[in-house]
Amino acid sequence: MAVDNSRLKGFFQLSVEERRSILAEIASLSAEDIAALESGGGMNSTIADTMIENVYTTMTLPVGVATNFIIDGKNFVIPFCLEESSVIAAASNMAKRCHLNGGFSTDVDESMMIGQIQLLGIEDLKTSSEAVESRAQEIIDLCNSLPSTMVSLGGGCKQIRCRIIEDMLIVHIIVDCKDAMGANAVNTMAELCAPLVEEITGGEARLKIVSNLAVHRLARSTATFTPEELSMDGSLESGLEVISRILDAYRFASIDPFRATTHNKGTMNAISSIALACGQDWRAVEASCHAWITHHQGRYGSITEWKQDRNGNLQGSIEIPLAVGIVGGAISVHPVARANLSILGVDSAAQLAGVMASAGLAQNLAAMRALATSGIQSGHMKLHVKNMAVSAGAMENEVEQVAKVANESGQRITQSLVDGILRSLRG
Ligand code: MEV
Repeated sequence: MAVDNSRLKGFFQLSVEERRSILAEIASLSAEDIAALESGGGMNSTIADTMIENVYTTMTLPVGVATNFIIDGKNFVIPFCLEESSVIAAASNMAKRCHLNGGFSTDVDESMMIGQIQLLGIEDLKTSSEAVESRAQEIIDLCNSLPSTMVSLGGGCKQIRCRIIEDMLIVHIIVDCKDAMGANAVNTMAELCAPLVEEITGGEARLKIVSNLAVHRLARSTATFTPEELSMDGSLESGLEVISRILDAYRFASIDPFRATTHNKGTMNAISSIALACGQDWRAVEASCHAWITHHQGRYGSITEWKQDRNGNLQGSIEIPLAVGIVGGAISVHPVARANLSILGVDSAAQLAGVMASAGLAQNLAAMRALATSGIQSGHMKLHVKNMAVSAGAMENEVEQVAKVANESGQRITQSLVDGILRSLRG
């Protein structure tokens, strides 16, 4: 269930405990979810020790919610897990600037993942490739032969495709992973059917592994921002000027890989943070998004697209591979990831992907708007100043006051300014 209203007015002024209890109430969290959130990390050594090897501690990062998101007509508050200040504020700010046109609209493919089998030592690649394709159903049936919830829900291996690359035959098994990310299932199927593929081709099956370039699992999101919504002072004139500057910023990213990398990093600030908060394989998400740009565009460019419509509005869109799941993987074992998914309230992997794509689009626009107008640092430093106060040695009860004095000083915020403020407050 998405929430009734994602606005959460004044939320940022509340204490951490107050925010938690509001989220628990609006998302109707279970006692178990609440306990996980209260534990401040939620993972004891026993769970940690089952997840990876040689565990000696756990490490926590802050989790906050981005507000104001309306996606496909539903309100969402979106958990982000990251260390960087101002990202959540920026995404929330931009999410409310497309409300006049109804927020974000998404369109997400079925959860099709590719598993690759590399075959070596084949003499007649074309004949072997045709042989694999003619016995595709047999391979599919074998892939789907193990007991599996995914298969019982109508998912599983659906297609076999062959590619010839140099002296290699590469067989793709295409698997509908339904609500799971699916890497494990795909790897199991690839290993299971490899001996049959060897028998059909006479080759040696070497690598059998999922491809993270999930080209059949794309998530798309679009949104329209009016000039007034993007304006610095509410006026149409300022809004049109902001849009023209944003389009120049976008043009820069779309033709220059040095700028595109940072532009896309900004977009991934949202996508990866949601992935992390919701227990996803965020390295897979990062790898696939960056690879997709080059695969799709033929070179590295912007992950988003921006243009102006006939009415002067700014239209943004994003299309990215998002292999994410709401069952299996870390979600089944990480209590905070589960609680975060409950707060987000998505009911399918596709909906999670749509939310992530929309948040990425908002995040990218927030960065471009700031960079193309007032610059990024003033807003960023206002929020980052609390970290600087902690670095200066401020105690918990001093941090707010140091930040307030620094922000009201009218001076450029530097570590030495913050050090000086702390010293003078302590008299
Ligand atoms: C910082 O985390 C992200 C930005 O650099 C993105 C961008 O430059 O577009 C602000």
